[in-house]
Amino acid sequence: MKANILVQSSANTYSVSIGHSVLETEIKAFFDDSSVRECFILIDENVGKHHGKRLKKIFDNAKIDFTSFVIPEGEKSKSIEQWSRTLDFLLQNGVRRNTPLISIGGGITGDLAGFVAASVLRGIPLIQVPTTVLAMVDSSVGGKTGINHQTGKNLIGAFYQPQKVIADIEFLESLPRKEWINGLSEILKYGAISDSTIIERSSIFFEEDIHSIEKDSLIRLIEDCVSVKADIVKKDEFEGGVRAYLNFGHTFAHALEKATNFDEISHGEAVFLGMLAAINLSKSLGYTIDDAPLKKFRPLYNFNINAEALDTDTLIQYMKSDKKMIDSDIRFILLDGWQHPVVKTVNEQELISKAWLYLIHEL
Ligand SMILES: NC(=O)c1ccc[n+]([C@@H]2O[C@H](COP(=O)([O-])OP(=O)(O)OC[C@H]3O[C@@H](n4cnc5c(N)ncnc54)[C@H](O)[C@@H]3O)[C@@H](O)[C@H]2O)c1
Repeated sequence: MKANILVQSSANTYSVSIGHSVLETEIKAFFDDSSVRECFILIDENVGKHHGKRLKKIFDNAKIDFTSFVIPEGEKSKSIEQWSRTLDFLLQNGVRRNTPLISIGGGITGDLAGFVAASVLRGIPLIQVPTTVLAMVDSSVGGKTGINHQTGKNLIGAFYQPQKVIADIEFLESLPRKEWINGLSEILKYGAISDSTIIERSSIFFEEDIHSIEKDSLIRLIEDCVSVKADIVKKDEFEGGVRAYLNFGHTFAHALEKATNFDEISHGEAVFLGMLAAINLSKSLGYTIDDAPLKKFRPLYNFNINAEALDTDTLIQYMKSDKKMIDSDIRFILLDGWQHPVVKTVNEQELISKAWLYLIHEL
C-alpha cells in the first residue's frame, strides 16, 4: 500500500508519499515534471553504506545525473562548519537556482540539508527523503530547518519547505532498533496531542524483531502522524499558535539534551522522558491526566545517562535559555486530559523541580 498526504504552506503545497520501495517511482515522477535532469544528493554516511548501490541504480534508471556528498553521522553535523563545507561543495560543483538538492538521511541530514537549500543562492529546490522513523513522521515535514550553535540546539535556521517528501520504509530495514524507538517518541507525541488511536496502534513497536513490523500498519501509522503535522502546519506554519503543541515534552527534552552534551541521550529518548515530566507537571497544576498509556512504552527504552550528574537548578536554567522563551518565565505544553494540549506559563519553580525529580527517577 501507498499513502499520499498534501501539506499546504504559504510557499507551496507539496506531497508526502509513504510506502515500501516507492523511491524510484516517486523520483521518476518528480523529475518527469521538472525541466532538469540533474541533482545534488546529501546522504547520511550510514545510509550511504547500507543503500548506496540501490540508490545509484534508482537514479541511473531514472536517468538523473547526481553529485553526492556524504554527511557524517551525529549531531555535530548540524554545525556551522558542516554547513559551510556543504555550501563549498555545492558552489564548487556549479549549483544553479533550479538544481534540486535531495537529502537522504535522518533528521540531522535533513535539518542541515534544508538550511543549506534555503541559504545557497537564496534558495534551491529541496526534496526530503527521510530514512529514520523520526524523520519520516516529523523532521522532514513542515519546513523547520537549521543547525546548532555552541550556545544551544537549532539556534540558526530558516523556515524552508521542501517540494516533495518521499518516505520509503525500505530504508528502515537497516535502521538500528534504538533508532526505531527514538522515532517512536515523536509518534507517541502525536497520539498524546491529537489522536488516541496513534498511541494504541504504536503497540506494533513491541514486536520482538522490530524489523518485522507489519508494513501496512507502519505505513498507516506514519501517514496519520504526518496528517496531524500537516494539519497543524496548515493552521500555523510559523509557530505563532497551535504549532507549539508539537513541542509537547520538548521543553524538558531540550534542557536534558543540553545537560548531557547532546551525546548521552538521543532527541527521541529525551522527548519520551520530557513528555512524562510534562504530564507530571500537568497533574501538579491540577489537570486530570493519567500517564499510564505512555508509561506502557517505558520498557522499550534503555537510557544510559549518569543521573547523579543532573542538577535541577541547572536544568531549569537551561529551560530558560531555550530559544522558544519569550521572557524569563517558562512556557510549557501541558495536557488537560489526553489529546487536550494547553500552553501554560509556569512560575512555580518548585513544581518544575518536582517534575525534573520525577524524570530523573525514571532514568
Ligand atoms: N526539523 C524538525 O522539524 C525536527 C523535528 C524533530 C527532530 N528534529 C531534529 O532531528 C534530529 C534527529 O534526527 P534522527 O533521530 O533522524 O537522527 P539522525 O539523523 O542522527 O539518525 C540517527 C542515526 O541513524 C543512522 N541512520 C539514518 N538512517 C538510517 C538507515 N536507514 N539505516 C541505518 N542507519 C541509519 C544515522 O547515521 C544516525 O546514526 C535532531 O537534530 C532533532 O533536533 C528536527
